Amino acid sequence: MPNILKTKIKRVTKAVFPVAGMGTRFLPATKSIPKEIMTLVDRPLIQYAIDEARAAGIKEFIFVTARGKSALEDYFDHSPELESALRRSGKEDLLEILRDTNMDSGAIAYVRQNRALGLGHAVWCAKRLIGNEPFAVLLPDDVIAAEKPCLQQMIEAYEQTGGCMVAAMEVPPNKTSSYGVLDVADDMGSILQVRGMVEKPKVEDAPSNLAVIGRYILTPKVMMNLNRMKQGAGGEIQLTDAIAEECKTPGNVFGFRFRGQRYDCGSKAGFLQATVAFGLSRPDLREEFSAYLNDMVALQKAAQ
Ligand code: UTP
Repeated sequence: MPNILKTKIKRVTKAVFPVAGMGTRFLPATKSIPKEIMTLVDRPLIQYAIDEARAAGIKEFIFVTARGKSALEDYFDHSPELESALRRSGKEDLLEILRDTNMDSGAIAYVRQNRALGLGHAVWCAKRLIGNEPFAVLLPDDVIAAEKPCLQQMIEAYEQTGGCMVAAMEVPPNKTSSYGVLDVADDMGSILQVRGMVEKPKVEDAPSNLAVIGRYILTPKVMMNLNRMKQGAGGEIQLTDAIAEECKTPGNVFGFRFRGQRYDCGSKAGFLQATVAFGLSRPDLREEFSAYLNDMVALQKAAQ
């Protein structure tokens, strides 16, 4: 672990939410609905990411959006007609739920990515708003169920290490080609010192089975690296490549094995799994929903 004095490490108060992707895996739904507005039980995906960031002490929320994403911007605004109708009918509980969706004036900023040139390019679009500060990046389609929110776990670990930190999880070796994969120099338990990162390696070339998922704490140096980036794997500007640049200096990049369950809500199977898990975790739904699931499983078995 590098010997960085705590006083030298700047607090992370800004977070970037790249939401400019086309969401092609959810067509036709995403033809008119942003993927991030799709609903897990009764809240859009983006709300889970915002709540996680708030719990970790984030104060400034920067969305990288694109054409067709205006529903996202409206979601965080006040809704005067709806609010006064609920107030008139005394529905205080629903008003309270709505309050959680409002963001303070000035806390939220939107920048536009004109062309979907990849995650690295989307993060780079927030460059002027980030300035010379460390910042978090949260991909809303990775939803993480955890006792202590994942970003909070990471910020606590980052306060010991400084540098860049990426959330990592073990995946089956034959799945490594779907992820950015860590080359680990030193495995210190929950914190891993990283000497390299490869985006979507061939299974036989993967340096480990530790995959990077959608939570990052990054230094402004990564923005500078993105400035000079060429298109990488898949013709996109890869965030992984810009972080991998930082790995050249030992002690600059860390992986973090978070405690929690990650759901890939960018894929249909992952979204369905998350729906089942979050549905079953809700006290108001659990009984009826689990009875239904049991019946379904029994019916499936009988039909086989
Ligand atoms: P994905 O790889 O899931 O791409 O992006 P996508 O376009 O959202 O979905 P598919 O693969 O076509 O179904 C991961 C994250 O990066 C953002 C996405 O919005 C998502 O949050 N992203 C991706 C951008 O903001 N801009 C891009 O150019 C690409």
